[in-house]
Amino acid sequence: MIRSLTIKRFYHSLRVLGIETSCDDTSAAVVDGDRTIISQACRNQFKYHQPWGGIVPSIAKNHHYENLVPVVAEVMKDIEWNTIAAIATSIKPGLVISLWQGIKFTRQLLEKYTHLSFIPIHHMEAHALTVRLTHDVPFPYMVLLASGGHCILAIVEDIDKFYRLGETQDIAPGEAFDKSARELKLHKHPLVENMVGGAAIEYLAREGYEKRYQLITPKYSAKMRDCSFSFGGMLSQIRRVIEKDGLYSESSNVDEQKLKDFSACIQSSIVRHIETRVHRAILFCDAIQKPQWKRRLVLSGGVASNLYLRQRINDLCTHYGVELFCPPVEFCTDNGVMIAWNGIERYRQNMNVFERMSDTLVPEGRAPLGSDISEQVCACNISVPFDWKSILEKKHVTVIENLNKQ
Ligand code: KG4
Ligand code: ZN
Repeated sequence: MIRSLTIKRFYHSLRVLGIETSCDDTSAAVVDGDRTIISQACRNQFKYHQPWGGIVPSIAKNHHYENLVPVVAEVMKDIEWNTIAAIATSIKPGLVISLWQGIKFTRQLLEKYTHLSFIPIHHMEAHALTVRLTHDVPFPYMVLLASGGHCILAIVEDIDKFYRLGETQDIAPGEAFDKSARELKLHKHPLVENMVGGAAIEYLAREGYEKRYQLITPKYSAKMRDCSFSFGGMLSQIRRVIEKDGLYSESSNVDEQKLKDFSACIQSSIVRHIETRVHRAILFCDAIQKPQWKRRLVLSGGVASNLYLRQRINDLCTHYGVELFCPPVEFCTDNGVMIAWNGIERYRQNMNVFERMSDTLVPEGRAPLGSDISEQVCACNISVPFDWKSILEKKHVTVIENLNKQ
């Protein structure tokens, strides 16, 4: 067992190097305790995986192996190693073969620069805390983490204190976006061929009319009185529509407007599903009246860079007097800055800061974040109207009154 560290004092502000390799981005950054991003670098492997229609683990591994040295060299170009206090590295959750590359490289750096401490990082915790680098957001707050592999709605009380209100029961929204884009063959569409699935659909949806198609019925969404997510059924429906209407962007006779309309429909179905869960989470927190509910909501993770999602959630938050915080788009998707910042937050509180890396450290593909309180949400049995904008303030008050009576 490696002891936790006695915090060292530096003459300059605390600096941490962050290394991220949990999926297909090799990223690194140096951030300091005054919230300054001193340097950052990232090499994306998107174009190497794109022909295969998804992340290929062996390709990811090889690219991380090749990219780690140049990426870290780039961020350390003008920085002395002896001004860095620690290396923070993602060790879970993610693609194990990719995480291994980051861990092995960190081990080599720790052996070379022996003054450095090591801080293992939970990738989703890092997504949840990024906002504290870019905005003044004190704990506690509610967070929606929506990415390619996760969808979690939680209350964050401290760096390592998460209470999950709900999470996805099948696939993540980013995966639903990516697979829909793939089915539509958007990687062959000249306007969006270089974009990730979610961004490509968002781009086309800007000129689309969502109501031309309908995927999930309001009834379905309203039936499940919890904050858990499910995008699998929606994806099956999407596939059926694409096949039936021949909506393949590469085909010469595809109706471009139909493609845009269906993109708008996909985006709105995914976002509205998320919206009902966030809506219920707000009503739940209002109902139980915990002192930990400070009416603050944070959106993060790759899908949180979607501007339609931000707009819808912003409208909801305005309606309920909840303050909404979103990190800048470039920090919503995977990056080294969030890992370095998570390292700063942990170093300051001496939380899992180690003098060296344990010989037995292994990456974890799956790793739950905090504790599950979803049953408490179900027990409240809160109904949420699908088109909440149509409800009057009075109806909201009635829901709360009924809950308080229970
Ligand atoms: O957080 P992230 O970079 O990686 C994971 O940890 O998964 O999220 C990547 C996901 C991808 O599925 C991508 O399609 C989605 O975020 N994404 C978007 C947008 N930009 C990226 N989804 C919707 N709208 C976007 N603008
Ligand atoms: Zn991520």
